[in-house]
Amino acid sequence: MQVLKKWAHVTERDILEANITKYDNDEIIKYYTEKADPKFTYIEYQVIFKAIMEALAEKLGRSVKAVDICGGSGKASFIMKQCDPASEISLVDLSDKMLAVARSKMKQEGLEDIELIKTDAFSFLETTRQQFDLIVFSSAIHHFKDPVKLLSAAADKLTADGCIVTIAEPTTIIKSTRFKIVTFIFGHKEYKQDVVKSWVRYITTWGESWPAKDEFADIAEYQTYKGIDDLELSARLNSLGINPLLHLRYPSGDPLMLKIMPYMGLNWSFGMILKKGWGPGDRSLSQQLQNKIRGELPFKIDFI
Ligand SMILES: C[S@@+](CC[C@H](N)C(=O)[O-])C[C@H]1O[C@@H](n2cnc3c(N)ncnc32)[C@H](O)[C@@H]1O
Repeated sequence: MQVLKKWAHVTERDILEANITKYDNDEIIKYYTEKADPKFTYIEYQVIFKAIMEALAEKLGRSVKAVDICGGSGKASFIMKQCDPASEISLVDLSDKMLAVARSKMKQEGLEDIELIKTDAFSFLETTRQQFDLIVFSSAIHHFKDPVKLLSAAADKLTADGCIVTIAEPTTIIKSTRFKIVTFIFGHKEYKQDVVKSWVRYITTWGESWPAKDEFADIAEYQTYKGIDDLELSARLNSLGINPLLHLRYPSGDPLMLKIMPYMGLNWSFGMILKKGWGPGDRSLSQQLQNKIRGELPFKIDFI
């Protein structure tokens, strides 16, 4: 109970500082340096970015100018660049070490012209004079106390037809017992060992160590503590005139889990494509994006 109370009082500044520390840690950097995604995981990135980049380029009559905020080692930036090599991409991140990983992966992939900018998200959005056709938050908004404030600061930097993409964010399903059991059963050996160790610690310390050593007690991962209520987020954004062209929930993880999770009601990731205002062509654009994405993803997803 004490942890929950403290959690509510954590500030945006505390979370920023926790992220600066976390993404300076060499163990975390090693993970991002060595990480190679298994086949068919993150396939939603290819499909969603291709759909929105093609739609925007058609509307604008040119390639998009995009910024990947909290871009880390560059997953979303690289996919955008591969979708359209003529697109103009910047990647913003607060961590020198993550930017170094992105730089080295760029070399390996032969993608040299992505601009890397070291700063934090709010500072970037407050100071940039540029406008963007696409502003991307990939596995990013859970690192903020107030995602609405963040997304509305981003919306102010959009070009007239511009869109924000948020992708790979946790829904509240991650807190359900069903989700925990299924992820344990299908988890990697190391994951299972960590969970078992943590339970043994809990039992042998009469509950004293829980949840202090739990991954969700990590302030840097602030929203992961409860998961994000994506319906509430969407309603709050709507009330500010930032409208979801698309809001989807989908499974994420191992290829096997991708197939099983939707049938167990465990679409734990969500993504949105947002734009300012709602114009005459937007309903058909929304439908067109939905059809493309549903048609190209090899697993079941829900559109909200
Ligand atoms: C979970 S990683 C996601 C990286 C990448 N977007 C991806 O999808 O693989 C989160 C990244 O956000 C960065 N980050 C966290 N808080 C930030 C902030 N306030 N401003 C800028 N970057 C931030 C971290 O340094 C880290 O690289």
